Amino acid sequence: DAVTALVVAMDGPSGSGKSSASRGVARALGLRYLDTGAMYRAITWWMLEHGVDVGDPQAVAARADAARLAITTDPEAPGVTVDGRDVSAEIRTQEVTSAVSAVSAVPQVRARLVAEQRAIIGDGDIVVEGRDIGSVVAPGAAVKVYLTASPEARARRRTAELTGTTLEAQRVAMARRDTLDSTRKADPLVMAADAIELDTTELNLEEVIAEVLRLVKERT
Ligand code: DC
Repeated sequence: DAVTALVVAMDGPSGSGKSSASRGVARALGLRYLDTGAMYRAITWWMLEHGVDVGDPQAVAARADAARLAITTDPEAPGVTVDGRDVSAEIRTQEVTSAVSAVSAVPQVRARLVAEQRAIIGDGDIVVEGRDIGSVVAPGAAVKVYLTASPEARARRRTAELTGTTLEAQRVAMARRDTLDSTRKADPLVMAADAIELDTTELNLEEVIAEVLRLVKERT
């Protein structure tokens, strides 16, 4: 019920180890899992597919509600569809990755996705990963974790996740995306005042999951 149902907010920049840790925590606790970054990526994919100039905020705003999104919340089978088409692989390309900051900076896109995210979260029992979960989407979350890591560690992880990139290219692209994500006017990437910061630079995945599970136990 609304009193005991658990929401775990996992925020932080890319390469902080958020996705693997969030899925691992959801699995360990038998909770659902929501990747909000995948929703921003899916909208971005749709904009590119339909020839919308993503550098033009008004053009993006005008089509903010056009695509129909569906996202799974099973940590064993994350996936997203746009107008019925499975785009789980397409949203991880370099093309989408370079365009997503511009699209996610548009207030109409954020308003739409935040509303959909709140509807999915519902009464809870879910681990939600993103940039603004503890601060905007689910400010009442019982547990808020803000993951960080050194720029080197983040670029290394990101390079391992993506195809067709190099460590140096990732370092540059991530620095650019960090600046865009944290300086945009609509919901910039900030740590919620009551979030617990977890530096994952020296931790492996199992250690990050164990630490989050410890925080969940402590706070519930
Ligand atoms: O976590 P990710 O790299 O898949 O996120 C992709 C982009 O989406 C990222 O550049 C910032 C944006 N994003 C956001 O603005 N708010 C969220 N809750 C999640 C992602």
